[in-house]
Amino acid sequence: MSQCILNKKGHQNGIQKLEKINSNQTKDVIEREKKFGAHNYDPIPVALTKGKGVFVWDVEGKKYYDFLSAYSAVNQGHCHPKITEAVKKQVDTLTLTSRAFFTDALGEYAEFITKLFGYDKILPVNSGVEAGETACKIARKWGYLKKKIPNDQAKIVFAEGNYWGRTMSAISSSTDPTCRDCYGPFMPGFIVIPYDDEEVLEETLKNDPNICAFMVEPIQGEAGIVVPKPGYLKRIREICTKYNVLWIDDEVQTGLGRTGKLLGVHHENVRPDIVCLGKALSGGMMAISAVLADDETILCIKPGEHGSTYGGNPLSCKVATAALKVILEEDLCENAKKLGNILMEDLKKLPKELVCEVRGKGLMCAIVINEKVGFTATDVCIKLRDNGLLAKPTHGDIIRLAPPLVMTEVQLKVCTNILLKTINSFRI
Ligand SMILES: Cc1ncc(COP(=O)(O)O)c(C=O)c1O
Repeated sequence: MSQCILNKKGHQNGIQKLEKINSNQTKDVIEREKKFGAHNYDPIPVALTKGKGVFVWDVEGKKYYDFLSAYSAVNQGHCHPKITEAVKKQVDTLTLTSRAFFTDALGEYAEFITKLFGYDKILPVNSGVEAGETACKIARKWGYLKKKIPNDQAKIVFAEGNYWGRTMSAISSSTDPTCRDCYGPFMPGFIVIPYDDEEVLEETLKNDPNICAFMVEPIQGEAGIVVPKPGYLKRIREICTKYNVLWIDDEVQTGLGRTGKLLGVHHENVRPDIVCLGKALSGGMMAISAVLADDETILCIKPGEHGSTYGGNPLSCKVATAALKVILEEDLCENAKKLGNILMEDLKKLPKELVCEVRGKGLMCAIVINEKVGFTATDVCIKLRDNGLLAKPTHGDIIRLAPPLVMTEVQLKVCTNILLKTINSFRI
């Protein structure tokens, strides 16, 4: 019941924001989407029509710096020429056969991506949440076949604040009431422990031989860019190995250069048992995701036991290969690391009375607005929009900053000036 009231409030907020829009063209686009589309999002009121590199344009022709990158799916920048070229070439050749047949595209892609990340095999799927679901199924299957967990007793451990999508399984592990309320009953066999707490992890795994996996993000994205203390990832590896539990590494958001490394776990040189990739795996072209693992685990799933009509289709294989090559060839990990350091240094100049914390790694950053000030993260994002930069608030007081990784230092400096000027303008 409380959730229904929350939803009503959210809807009213959206309408209030709409009133701040002057232009008819933008208003028309927003009103039509709201009239015919379900209200499961609360977008910043701007109506986009075009994107190139780090920029997007609205229907009035106004240009903005994109500081969200479609929640880190557009790490390679909008409409990257090498990825669009791959789309154009394959779209006229072969797009979908289903996995009822072999194709020359899947083997080529599978060899490329598994060698790049150092795993035996890939299970190709479509969205990020599907990668998470697939990883959980592999872990349960492995639990029964290899760890000899009694039938239907397998458990998976998650961390508080986790976000891995919106399916019934994903929300069953969630601690966010907005994700869960009025959607029960939930998936059994899930345990939730605090994030960044290796002692509780060890206690949990030690006391329950039926645990098959621990699924966790190296940096929690949707929780508000929560960076664990140094050494946490190493301890996860040690503890999971000690208790014969699989470590599922959710790199859907942190992966593919975002944090300054190809994978978030590379910051501590550790190797999880199962890796989930998504978002930037297509550079924004289409929904493509993947699960990487070794034969010991991934081959527990036998023919006919799991799949998806579009998973591993020839078009997505070519697009994902092109998207990965752009990250490597343009050294986007290094650029994210370098620009991330500059961004953090500049953001630290913001007065504590307005911003109580800036945090992040690489180009995955967040600003936390001081609760005591009389404005919200949404107010700041609306003003940022007016000043030519698009960012999205989360949890009321946090602004997530995640520009495309192809940004130049000169462009970043322009953006940090917009950010500093805009936030400082809220000073009374
Ligand atoms: C860490 C993480 N995992 C999984 C997902 C789900 O991805 P998708 O929205 O493509 O299903 C997200 C989406 O934000 C994510 O941040």
